[in-house]
Amino acid sequence: MPYAHITGWGMAVPESVLTNDDLSRIIDTNDAWIRDHTGIRERRIARESDFPSTLAVEASIKALKVANLKPTDIDLIICSTSSPEYIFPATACLIQDQLGASKAGAFDLLAACTGFIYATNMAAQSIRSGSIKNALVIGAETLSRFVDWQDRNTCILFGDGAGAFVLQASDEPGGVLSAVMHSDGSGGDSLSLPGGGSRIPATEATVHEGKHYIHMDGKAVFRFATRVMGHAAREALELAGLTTNDVQWIVPHQANFRIIETAAKYLKMPLERFVINVDRYGNTSTASIPIATVEAVEKGQIKSGDKIVLVGFGAGLTWGALVAHWTGPLSTERNVHPEIYPTWARVRSLLRRIIRFIEVLSGAETHSGLE
Ligand code: COA
Repeated sequence: MPYAHITGWGMAVPESVLTNDDLSRIIDTNDAWIRDHTGIRERRIARESDFPSTLAVEASIKALKVANLKPTDIDLIICSTSSPEYIFPATACLIQDQLGASKAGAFDLLAACTGFIYATNMAAQSIRSGSIKNALVIGAETLSRFVDWQDRNTCILFGDGAGAFVLQASDEPGGVLSAVMHSDGSGGDSLSLPGGGSRIPATEATVHEGKHYIHMDGKAVFRFATRVMGHAAREALELAGLTTNDVQWIVPHQANFRIIETAAKYLKMPLERFVINVDRYGNTSTASIPIATVEAVEKGQIKSGDKIVLVGFGAGLTWGALVAHWTGPLSTERNVHPEIYPTWARVRSLLRRIIRFIEVLSGAETHSGLE
């Protein structure tokens, strides 16, 4: 049975920075309150031209470069997102098209902020089963588009961004060692975006009632998160036959510094072994774990040979953890330029549209001819 190694990684965040002081000019809040209660100092907010797919493509090209793969080498794209560009088509298909990953299957996965753990586990299982060789797993969000900027309970928390991993089959032991996935739908009301689905389709009234914004019971989510984070990490470690002593780094979901602190206490691990960047990006939902991992690798904190735990929680309610043996790229050659593929993909996509247009025109002529 092949092993599923994490062989490439990349991240992308929008350029625009929104600081706590900026927020205090919009709503009744202040820098000291936000830092004390969440640990957040600033977050990135999507510009008009930023979407989950554009951020995801930027992150994915970087990940493919590290793995030394072309977009056409990818068999499967899983995009975890809670802010898909459309209900359908899937954001993963937009990414597939923009990358020019012409041989890949693509689908979205919605497990909110835990989604990247679910998606990485699903990709790893597909590799282990032998059904695919190379997968691209992405966490991408522009949740700022669903935030009520008058609700100081939620608008201070969220930021935008994307992170991507390439997973590849190898006979060498390593890669994803274990994972646990949990859910409790009875707590779904504590964090939701009620409008816009088939139960509450968009109407003038739903817009007026704020149904298309994120709704959150902060205290309930806080209690849930502090209960499950450390426990899930320990469960995944046990499944891998490891203990916290075997692990160099924990990469937690970046929602709130106080939640991470509680998990560290539960696991009896020093905070220095936790990757933390919530101060600079806020809660980027499903993108937070890959963004934190990529930064830790690029800073030289996570190194080849390290064992790491990714652990998260989110709406659903969902939570989970994944243990990986970090090995790095399978091939160290650097002769692949995945960034040229999106240009070809755009040309191909344009040609396809022109052909479809001509087909429609000729169809219309035939039809009128029959009349
Ligand atoms: N600025 C200033 N004051 C604020 C504020 C803000 N942004 N938000 C709330 N307050 C006020 C409240 O009105 C309240 O005032 P009161 O005591 O006069 O009524 C006081 O601060 C305390 O509010 P409270 O809601 O009890 O704060 P808290 O310590 O629970 O922190 C959260 C609120 C949202 C930061 C915290 O509950 C949290 O992080 N929850 C988890 C959310 C999360 O992680 N969501 C994503 C999951 S993926």
